[in-house]
Amino acid sequence: MDSAATSLSPIPVIKAMDEYELRYRANVGRGVHRLALVATQKYADAHKKIASFIGATEGQTVITKNTTEAINIVACGMEWHKGDRIVTTTLEHHSNYLPWVRLHEKHGINLSVVPPGPDGTFDLSLFEDTIDDATKLVAVSHASNVLGSVTPVNKIAALCRAHDSRLLVDGAQSVPHIPVDVKKAGCDYLCFSGHKMLGPSGTGVLWMKSPDLSPLLVGGGMISDVTADHYTESGGYMRYEAGTPPVGSCIGLGKAVDYLEGIGMDRVMNHEQALTTRMIDGLSSVKGVTVYGPPPGKNRIGVVSFTVKDLHPHEVAHILDEAAGIMVRSGEHCCIPLMHHIGADNGTVRASLHLYNNADDVEQLIVTVEEISRMV
Ligand code: ALA
Repeated sequence: MDSAATSLSPIPVIKAMDEYELRYRANVGRGVHRLALVATQKYADAHKKIASFIGATEGQTVITKNTTEAINIVACGMEWHKGDRIVTTTLEHHSNYLPWVRLHEKHGINLSVVPPGPDGTFDLSLFEDTIDDATKLVAVSHASNVLGSVTPVNKIAALCRAHDSRLLVDGAQSVPHIPVDVKKAGCDYLCFSGHKMLGPSGTGVLWMKSPDLSPLLVGGGMISDVTADHYTESGGYMRYEAGTPPVGSCIGLGKAVDYLEGIGMDRVMNHEQALTTRMIDGLSSVKGVTVYGPPPGKNRIGVVSFTVKDLHPHEVAHILDEAAGIMVRSGEHCCIPLMHHIGADNGTVRASLHLYNNADDVEQLIVTVEEISRMV
């Protein structure tokens, strides 16, 4: 139950990566020998699958190391001027917060932070009041990694359009669990991680509507020409992927996309929603347990944060592991501003699901939390 941190990979994903390592390992976009051509084609195919998974028929899909890197590429690649505004929220993961704080501190960019309600849902009028013509970028999480709340990004996108602001969506927790389509979301940038969606670690994705960011890195593989004192950047995703990419891992991520599509994201979502409903109902009925986040329903994912009396969340997580083999994350979840906002200064215990969890897992969690609560 720690899939919000990292999910497990199914065998076909691991086999696809093994096949690359054992049968056609070569660099991509460089050599002309046969292994290089096979690797280049499979790498390009994986790119295409990943783009189509998020409904991207235009724009550019770039492989990164993780969501953090994808967000930082946007932060460093946009052109900033003093007086520009960035709007973000209190529930962001540090990865979608620190890049904006750094721009504020180092370059005098104005930063506005919209607070969610206690359950992580937003009063949209706060965005309406905050986004103005000076707002160059709005950066929001699609789904909270602490509260599980889903943000109505398409409504925020409409506000952005009215002020000619760009919208960055942190999809790290949404893309692995619910259908996400960049056109429906109406965003300019979508960032997510491979390792949370059954793919390998070391893979992330940045989709951008217009490939007009300055690349974060320059070097091999991203140019069409170099003279003594000038270089011309190539087009396509290569422009943003200087250096050798994680070829085998990206091919593995392409296989993870096949796997998720084979099951269907609607089914993944419905399965997790049913388990989440039971988890919230069960945990909420345990004496001494506080559950955070919105009630069960359509606008939340299977990420459930809770505390047990005044036990430290790490203590609860240790007991869950030792007593029942249940793995959860505990602590601040890289969301210190949110922890203060919801009054959980020591953090929370977080159980997070994926398609491989079942009803027994959830019952086991509830029963074990009941026992812990009785003990103290
Ligand atoms: N972002 C990951 C989490 O929330 C690591 O656990």
